[in-house]
Amino acid sequence: MSDRKRVFSGIQPTGNTHLGNYLGAVRNWAARQAEKINTFCVVDLHSLTVPQDPEQLRHETRSMAALLLACGIDPAQSTLFIQSHVTAHAEGCWLLNCVTPLGWLQRMTQFKDKSARQESVLTGLLDYPVLMAGDILFYDADEVPVGEDQKQHVELTRDIAQRFNALYEQEFFVIPQPIIPEVGARVMGLDDPTVKMSKSLADKRGHAVRMLDTPDEILYSFKRAVTDSGREIAFSNDPDKAGVNNLLGIYRAITGQSNAEVEADFANARGYGDLKVRVAEVVIETLRPIQARHRELMDDPAELDRILAHGAAQARAVAQPKVDEMKRIMGLVLPGAADGR
Ligand code: TYM
Repeated sequence: MSDRKRVFSGIQPTGNTHLGNYLGAVRNWAARQAEKINTFCVVDLHSLTVPQDPEQLRHETRSMAALLLACGIDPAQSTLFIQSHVTAHAEGCWLLNCVTPLGWLQRMTQFKDKSARQESVLTGLLDYPVLMAGDILFYDADEVPVGEDQKQHVELTRDIAQRFNALYEQEFFVIPQPIIPEVGARVMGLDDPTVKMSKSLADKRGHAVRMLDTPDEILYSFKRAVTDSGREIAFSNDPDKAGVNNLLGIYRAITGQSNAEVEADFANARGYGDLKVRVAEVVIETLRPIQARHRELMDDPAELDRILAHGAAQARAVAQPKVDEMKRIMGLVLPGAADGR
């Protein structure tokens, strides 16, 4: 048996993938592929928890898969697939629903936030973390690399796994760990550094840097970034300095420098205007090759389909036996099993 850790993570395909998704999650998935056994998933079923335009969802699901490849996810080292291609996810979610107390879901912060913003809340939105728990548990994942905002969902996954193991008196599910990066775990909005950069706000000009934005759009967003009336370019916990802190944090995450090195880089900067343009430049240069590769992949649909079909077959081979075993443990009759077991 390999002692390499198993890693699972996912991302929703719905539009507006932004720098927070990249720095908080995707970049870290790509960086550690060689050390781990990796499974990465475009979670299209999760996107259905809020209303979607069908054609757009289809396009964005493919585009997200292409973007992950463009960001360096290597199908030779990692399984990459679309969630709905592996039916074990929806099937196993039902089984997990039947061991998850309703109260656990009602207290999820993200559910409370998202449901407060909508007039009609779909059942799927409440059930979202159970679907996510299945994603992780059906692959025996030890590690789940995510941004700060998904930590509570991974903790719920641990609770569900422990409850299943206790109810059925066996160590069936691996108890996963959230892996939150030290840098980039919570990129804030450029227009308001007190809220996290988010897909749902990314249609608003100047809020986010979207992964497929043009250099002009990126420069525009950074130039308009909210800062303060001071001049000092340094990391700080002062809430008034949240804007400058966010810009420096993005620069640090992209360049891989320490706080002191970042501050030294800006020692001779001429005010915040200079800071904004220089952060924009490193972001534009980081995204340029990713965007070019994304275009190439989108222009070759057959190749993308081939990669995704291969990934789905690999994922199915892991998840379906796990869900079948869960069914047996829970007392369901497996088809063709003469003794009902
Ligand atoms: P999603 O699609 O909202 O986000 C994908 C990843 O990006 C991270 N992220 C951020 N990181 C830093 N700063 C930000 N402003 C920021 N915004 C988002 C998220 O933490 C996430 O890691 N429920 C998940 C998808 C999912 C999943 C899973 C993740 C489904 N099944 C299983 C892990 C394991 C979600 O909606 O992520």
